[in-house]
Amino acid sequence: MNYQSGFGNEFATEALPGTLPEGQNSPQRVAHGLYAEQLSGTAFTAPRHGNRRSWLYRIRPAAVHEPFAPLPHATLHNRFDEAPATPNQLRWNPLPMPEAPTDFIDGLVTLAGNGGADEQAGVGIHIYTANRSMQGRFFYSADGELMIVPQLGKLRLATELGVIDIEPQEIAVIPRGVRFRVELLDAEARGYVCENFGAFLRLPDLGPIGSNGLANSRDFLTPHAAYEDVDGDFELVAKFQGALWSAKIDHSPLDVVAWHGNYAPYKYDLRRFNAIGSISFDHPDPSIFTVLTSPSDTVGTANMDFAIFPPRWLVAQHTFRPPWFHRNVASEFMGLIAGVYDAKAEGFVPGGTSLHNCMSGHGPDAATFEKASSADLSKPNVIEGTMAFMFETRKVIRPTRQALDLPQLQGNYYECWQGIAKHFDPSKA
Ligand SMILES: [Fe+2]
Repeated sequence: MNYQSGFGNEFATEALPGTLPEGQNSPQRVAHGLYAEQLSGTAFTAPRHGNRRSWLYRIRPAAVHEPFAPLPHATLHNRFDEAPATPNQLRWNPLPMPEAPTDFIDGLVTLAGNGGADEQAGVGIHIYTANRSMQGRFFYSADGELMIVPQLGKLRLATELGVIDIEPQEIAVIPRGVRFRVELLDAEARGYVCENFGAFLRLPDLGPIGSNGLANSRDFLTPHAAYEDVDGDFELVAKFQGALWSAKIDHSPLDVVAWHGNYAPYKYDLRRFNAIGSISFDHPDPSIFTVLTSPSDTVGTANMDFAIFPPRWLVAQHTFRPPWFHRNVASEFMGLIAGVYDAKAEGFVPGGTSLHNCMSGHGPDAATFEKASSADLSKPNVIEGTMAFMFETRKVIRPTRQALDLPQLQGNYYECWQGIAKHFDPSKA
């Protein structure tokens, strides 16, 4: 499987030669008897550099399906006001795998979020666990683009615009409205989903870093066109204003034979991130680990940043090398994909999550502090075999009622800082 390279490029791809019209978007008759349909991800009049739309040439228009009816879902929602938002530091163990047959949609559990689809700001944060592929059903979200972060198991994302395979340490982003099916390429799958209600994710500006570094545009991969010409008794599931809806559809909606434009799903391998850090002393802010950012209306204050903590060398002198103790105006939801996170000795395991909200103090645990305070700084630290990530938002991240009731919530998380000793002695240098 090969892909088209580059972030937000204007792509043109066809699964059948001679499908894309030359010189116009919607001729009176499209080749091969297809229909032309535009999919817009931004306002028609958005500035050119931030304008996203694609033209799809498909077997049937997206309008062809029966009416939607509400589809209850026990654990997926956008109700972020049903439990008090707490200033406590929170941490969860990984959710267990389901025992009953469960696909990607069935297995979504909403942990936290803020804002909503209606205000076009904020995020929904979900965990998925699954043990079977979506069968005879297709999904799209009108509420936000979906960033899928696998922690366990490979996935095949069959989308209207082509097929994407991802494995742990890769991510994929499915734009608002794009229909897709999730297939499991392994027996079980688990991971994180960030539903971005705000402006679409994009590469951060690099400022004085220059024109290279962090996530490079050419490492973002978009699929070539691929289509299914399949009739049957299928289900189209829509997420609309925080709830699911279901409609019968008598064919696969993954029937786009060719498309062109810049509104399309993509994948990115987090191992390709070019980490940048201090080579003298002190830490730069963790914004140097931003992979993608969803800007808000306030310049420099993101609706959501997606940052990672990848393998890297720590070489700073006269410096406490793990992440420092801190309190931020931003709120931080973290997950661990693989290995060990360098600020915690134990308790934060792959598949687990933590939440440190606006101005809640956090940082290394007592064991990490003691170890790092006496580390030999004449030698570099090489952090290997790890991949942690963070969804950082400007708004407080509000845990759902069900997240606070989960048995995986660690009631003793606060104790990791209780062993931090008082070292203060005015007579010491
Ligand atoms: Fe933090």
